[in-house]
Amino acid sequence: MKQYIILSMKIRLEKKTVNDLESWFSDYVSAFRYQCKELQQNINLKIEHTGRVKKEIISIGTQLGLDKNELNLAEIIALFHDLGRFEQYDRYKTFSDRKSEDHAELGIRILKKYNVLDSLDDTLKEIVFCSVKNHNKAFVPENETDGCLFYSRLVRDADKLDIYRVVTSYYLRNDLQHNSVLELGLPDTPGISKEIYDMLLAGTIVDSKYVKNLNDMKLLQAGWIYDLNFRPTVEFIKERGYIELLRKALPDTNEIKNIFDSINLHIQKSYN
Ligand SMILES: [Fe+2]
Repeated sequence: MKQYIILSMKIRLEKKTVNDLESWFSDYVSAFRYQCKELQQNINLKIEHTGRVKKEIISIGTQLGLDKNELNLAEIIALFHDLGRFEQYDRYKTFSDRKSEDHAELGIRILKKYNVLDSLDDTLKEIVFCSVKNHNKAFVPENETDGCLFYSRLVRDADKLDIYRVVTSYYLRNDLQHNSVLELGLPDTPGISKEIYDMLLAGTIVDSKYVKNLNDMKLLQAGWIYDLNFRPTVEFIKERGYIELLRKALPDTNEIKNIFDSINLHIQKSYN
């Protein structure tokens, strides 16, 4: 893992601005009301996810030594990273970008349409747009500004921490209720994709086009370990045992053992 250094740019951003944007967000999401219990639950899931990603980004940022202004910007990015999810779900009734449209781009269109970020100066506005855009991409393009790169990496780490939390407790739940939204409609069939096995043993992140069943999805998530940017994120993952929990949710086979051996070796080598 590369250790990314804090940027040298000076940011001024008051807590009041964050609070105002939070009220805008609450008003905006409160318009998504459904009679159907399942629809409402899935919207609530994203509201709660947003709240927890804000906390995670502050935890990582605090460990990295960000100042108050920098933490405020991080919080705004976390607040808006999934803004597009609400309209996406309302329109298409799915959170699959593949089956609908890119929720990051959709979120940016909404921010622009309502001039939500008008209280920010242009540089900060650009960092928010750029980090939201990059939060869900396979890779962050290298040719972004330092500010955009740093905050894109930060929100990606914070997002992964919360997704680990949500999916590990889901995979190991006691009841057998299925949530097709969390499973992205994938079948719970035996076996894993050969391509995914090879990619993980080679120490690369999994290309989502090879995800064919739920096991593949769990492995893709385990492979995020190769796509983390900051040491505190890895420390949190170790403390909370997310990787072991994912492993428990997978079959006890030699292939899975090999994959997790190399993931654990990577964690040891990179972070000790
Ligand atoms: Fe997202």
